[in-house]
Amino acid sequence: MPQLRPYVAAVVRPIPVTTRDERIAALDDAGHNPFYIPATMVSIDLLSDSGTGALSQQQQAWAALADERYAFAESFTRFDHAVREIVPYPYVFPVHQGRAAERVLCGSLLSRGQISVSNTHFDTTSANIALLGCYSVDLPCPEAVDLDSDHPFKGNIDLDGLNTLLRGPDGPRVGQILITMTNNGMGGQPVSMSNLDAVSQIARDHGIPLILDAARMAENAWLVRRREAGYEDWTPRDIARRAFEFADGCVASLKKDGLGHAGGFLAVRDESLAQQCEATITATEGHRTYGGMAGHSLEVVAQGLREAFDPHYLADRETDAAYLAEQIHAAGVDTVRPAGMHAVYLNASRVLPHLQPHHFPAHALACALYREGGIRAAEMGSLYLGGLDEHNNLVTPAPFELVRLALPRRVYDHSHLEYIGEILVDIAKNPERVTGYQIVEAPRILRHFKCVTAPLDQHGA
Ligand SMILES: Cc1ncc(COP(=O)(O)O)c(C=O)c1O
Repeated sequence: MPQLRPYVAAVVRPIPVTTRDERIAALDDAGHNPFYIPATMVSIDLLSDSGTGALSQQQQAWAALADERYAFAESFTRFDHAVREIVPYPYVFPVHQGRAAERVLCGSLLSRGQISVSNTHFDTTSANIALLGCYSVDLPCPEAVDLDSDHPFKGNIDLDGLNTLLRGPDGPRVGQILITMTNNGMGGQPVSMSNLDAVSQIARDHGIPLILDAARMAENAWLVRRREAGYEDWTPRDIARRAFEFADGCVASLKKDGLGHAGGFLAVRDESLAQQCEATITATEGHRTYGGMAGHSLEVVAQGLREAFDPHYLADRETDAAYLAEQIHAAGVDTVRPAGMHAVYLNASRVLPHLQPHHFPAHALACALYREGGIRAAEMGSLYLGGLDEHNNLVTPAPFELVRLALPRRVYDHSHLEYIGEILVDIAKNPERVTGYQIVEAPRILRHFKCVTAPLDQHGA
C-alpha cells in the first residue's frame, strides 16, 4: 500500500523568496557563517531539526490547558507520565533542553581528568565534558567510515575498540559510556539493539555507567523495527523501552522526538546520583518539577512524545528522508548511505573535488546552497571538526567533509524537497564555480556556531 501522509497543514507560515543578489549580500553580512543569516532571508531552513517542527492541534490544545504553578503542577504530572511510558528509570527530571541534561548528568558522573567514551558525542556533549576538565573519545564502528555502504547500523559503537580502551592504560579513567541514538555526528545512523546489549554487558563488567543520549529515541526505534531481525513486530515504544532497559540513565533533548520547541529531561536508576542531579537542577534550572520549562512547554512535549512514537508518523518521516536522498542522487550528488531519518548528509568532497580540506569544501557547499537557492544547511566537515593552528589554518582535517540537510518535523512537503534537488543540480553542473574558504576569526570552543570566514576569491588563496 502506498505511503499516506498522516496529517495536513492547518496553519501555514509564508517563507521568503529572495534574489541571488540579496542572498550574496546576506551571506557577506553574516561573515559567511550560515548561523548568522537572519531567518527572514532563508527560504528553506535545514540548519537543524531541533525545535523547528510544526505543532499539532492537540499539542496546542494541551498548551492552552497548562498549569503554570511552581511545584508539582498538573502539567508536570502529565509530562512525567508521558516520559515514564517510555523510560523505565525511577528518577526523571525535566530540564530546559538536552545540553542542560548533559551538563547536569556528566557533571555528576565525571571527575576532572576522566574520559567519556561514545559511539560519537554530539558537539554540545563533548563541549560540556571539556568544560568539566574531562575528555571525549569517539569510537564509531568500523562500518561507519565507509560512507557508501548500506550497512543498516552504522551508528553502533566499535565494541573491539571499546574493549581495547577499557583494558588498556586509560581504562581506569573511563567514567561513563555514552551512546548517542541515532548517531547525529555520524550521518544520523541508528544503533542496533544487539550493539546496545553488548555494550551494556561490557559496561556492567567494568562497573561503568552506561548512558543514552536519547534525543532521537523514536527514530532509532523505528529504524530498529525496519532493519533489525526479530523486532519487525515490536511497537516503536516497546523498542525504545527495551533500549533504555540496557542502560543506567539517559539525557534527552525533547526538541527532536518530543516534537517540542523547547525542553529536555534526564533520568537515572541510581538514587544517590539522582539526588546529586536534583541539587544541580534546583540551583541552575529550577524546581525539579519544571527544570527551566514553562508548563505549556511540558504539555507540548508530553503530547509530542506520544505523537512521535506513532508508526504512521515515523513511516512518513522515513519516506521524507528517502525522498530527499533520491532527489539528491538524481542531481548526481552522493550522500551518506543509507538515508537515516532526521537528515540527509551530502558528501561535499565528491561534489567539489577541486577543493582540498584546508579550503573547507563542506562549508563552501553549504554557502553555495544558500547563495544559489536560499537553502540553509549545517557544515559537518573540517570547519566543525578539524584541528586548527593559532592562525586558524587547518592542521588536522575532519575524517569527512559533510553537509547536513536536517529535516524539521512536519514542515516541508515534497515540492520543497524537489526544489533542493534542483538547486543541487545547478551547483553540481559547474562545481568549479564554487570557491574555497578561509577562517578569519574563530572561537576555541564550538567554533562553527560563531566563526567568521571569507571566500578565497576575496582574500586570496
Ligand atoms: C544527539 C544530540 N544530543 C544532544 C543535543 C542537544 O540538545 P539541545 O539542542 O536540546 O540542547 C542535540 C541537539 O541537536 C543532539 O542532536
